[in-house]
Formats: sequence, structure tokens, C-alpha cells
Amino acid sequence: MTYFEEAERLKKLPPYLFKEIDRKKSEVRARGVDIIDLGVGDPDLPTPRHIIEALKRAADDPAHHRYPSYSGMMVFKEAVAEWYRVRFGVKLDPGTEVVSLIGSKEGIAHFPLAFINPGDVALVPTPAYPVYHIATLFAGGEPYFMPLLSENRFLPDLDAIPESVAARAKLMFINYPNNPTSAIAEPDFFRRVVAFAEKNEIIVCHDAAYTEMAFDGYQPPSFLQVEGAKAVGIEFHSLSKTYNMTGWRIGFAVGNRSAIEGLGGIKSNIDSGVFEAVQKAGIAAILGDQSCVHEMNQVYSERRDMMVEALNSAGFKVEAPKATFYLWIKVPDGYNSAQIATRLLEETGIVVTPGNGFGEPGEGYIRIALTQTKERLAEAIARLQGLDL
Ligand SMILES: Cc1ncc(COP(=O)(O)O)c(C=O)c1O
Repeated sequence: MTYFEEAERLKKLPPYLFKEIDRKKSEVRARGVDIIDLGVGDPDLPTPRHIIEALKRAADDPAHHRYPSYSGMMVFKEAVAEWYRVRFGVKLDPGTEVVSLIGSKEGIAHFPLAFINPGDVALVPTPAYPVYHIATLFAGGEPYFMPLLSENRFLPDLDAIPESVAARAKLMFINYPNNPTSAIAEPDFFRRVVAFAEKNEIIVCHDAAYTEMAFDGYQPPSFLQVEGAKAVGIEFHSLSKTYNMTGWRIGFAVGNRSAIEGLGGIKSNIDSGVFEAVQKAGIAAILGDQSCVHEMNQVYSERRDMMVEALNSAGFKVEAPKATFYLWIKVPDGYNSAQIATRLLEETGIVVTPGNGFGEPGEGYIRIALTQTKERLAEAIARLQGLDL
């Protein structure tokens, strides 16, 4: 077979840090161990029935079988604007301030191509969802990493960004409620981000994939609720986690008109939009009865409470998060992330994600996703009790 040399952009990719844990997982599974996988942030709960029914009805209509419009059906964009009005009190023009996405990952990954020139800086949190960093590299940009540390409640320290870096920065990624730390941000932080963006003329890209996954009555804010935010920013949303639709591939971006236009300019040359039947199902999701979201959050909060208690008794340190289905867990003294992930896998069959896989400041942490039933989590807890740390 001919070996084709990869382009520099692929060769420059950082090493895949989960490779070793993936290899060990296969090895342990091959030994016949019953694995409990708490590694992946993919909901185990099904998509609510009324959304599936809406897809079926729309899929039966030949009008939906043709190419969709690039930026999304007007009815979908209107539904998004309506959802924003009801949920956040934010007014959006569906014609110019909303674009549909084939999942928010797609939009996040394409955004730097619209605004980053070679040598431009993107301010990227770390630890973080890896796409911010990689998409910046693909666009020829330079990521400048903003560490998310427990002493700052996992918010970036904007004052620590050197002026020379801020001057070269074209955009900043932020994500609250946060993956992997499960931290939340209050409007005051968003206000500081707006001021920073205005001063340095940067675009803020807020990844809001987890705003609907919150507990104990907490309602995470939108970045766009803060005064001046729409002038500097864009928000990415996903239906994946809110409605258990990770496989359906639908999300949207909203906010600053020129930012939406730039993203649309890239997308219209790369993809051809979201299948209209999926958009119709998306409308049923965001404008339909939201009791499914409350029920889902109830399930996750019960799982959270079980696991937080069990992990703290087993010698880990973890606080109950107010949002996201992740637990960001401090490993016991004397271990690093990879060592504890390996011990858990080999001695209990539990798969967790080493925190440093999300970036260097994630060292000393592991992440688990609460994506197993209570029965499976009870089994995980029983196994944790046998662990001598
Ligand atoms: C922080 C964050 N943003 C975006 C996404 C992408 O979601 P999707 O492309 O399914 O909308 C994920 C998925 O895990 C995520 O964790």
C-alpha cells in the first residue's frame, strides 16, 4: 500500500492522551472483566418519545428530502429565537443572528476558519473540550492557554493574560457550565469577559452545551444575557445533552451578526445544512414540553449524589456540581491522574478519564460521566469500597 504523507496540520496534532487508557480498556475487557464505563460524556437515556415522533412524521414528508438551506430552516431559527426569549429573555433576529449546526462541535470546529489568520492567537481554556485548541491549530492560529484552576473556581484569570498576547488575540473560547470541571459561571464573570473583549477587540465564543443540565433549582445563565455581549460574542448550543440527541447531530449558534455570517460563509462551502426532518424534531424538542429535561436532571442529580458520597468515602475529593453530568475529582495524594485511572480500571473495571487528557492543569484530577444507571453505579460503588488507596 502506498503511504500518503499527512499534511502538517495533522502531523502537528498533539498526541492522543487517551490512547493508553483505551489500550488498557481493551486489554481488561479481553480478560472478560465486566467494565463500567464512566469515561464518555454520551447520555445513556433515550431521546424523548415526542421528539422521535416528530422526526418520523417529518421523515415521511418528501418536502424534507431535498437539500436543506445552509443556515437552517426559518421555522427552526424562529424556534431557536423563541427558546432564547423564553429561557434567557434574550432577543434574537432569526434571520441574521441564528445558524443551525450539525452538532455544536461542527460549529466550534469551523469558527476559527472564519476569523483566524495564520499567526493570530485564540485564547483557549485548559483543561477543556479539545476542539477549541485543535480547531485553532487547523486554522493556522496559535492557542494561548488560559489555565482553569480550582483556586479561581475554574474560571480563567483574565488579568493574567499578557497585553502582548491580548493584542494578537482574535477570539476567546469559554464554556460554562464547564466540561470537564463542571464549574459554573455567574453573570459577573461574563461581564468581565465582555469588558475584556471590548478592550481587546476579540470575539467571544461561549460554548453553552450544558446550560440545561443543572440541578437543585440552579439555572445557568446565557453569555448573551449580559449587556454588550451580543456586540462581541456568539454562543454555541447543542440539543445533544439536553434531549439525549448526541447521535442526531443538531445544534445552533446565535449572537453577533457578523460572527454568524462569517461562520455561515465557511459552512456553506463545506456542508449543506442539517436534514430538515432532524430540524423539525429539533423544533419539537426546544418548543415542546420541557418536563423531559426536568426528569433527566432529576436522574442525574440522584446519580451525582450517590457517586459524590461514595467517592469521598473512598479517599477521593469531589464536590457535588450544580451542573453538567461530570464529576471532576481530585485524586488522592501520591497519585497522578493516569496512575489512579489505571488502578481503577485494573482493580475495579471502572473506566474514568484522566484529567490531564484535557490539558496539563487537569493533572491530579479524573473525570467521570454519570452516564450509567443507578444499578450500575451501585455496582461501581461496591467495587470502589474494596479499593485500598
Ligand atoms: C463542552 C462541549 N461542547 C460541545 C460538545 C459537542 O456537542 P455536539 O457536537 O454533540 O453538539 C461537547 C460534547 O461532548 C462538549 O462536551
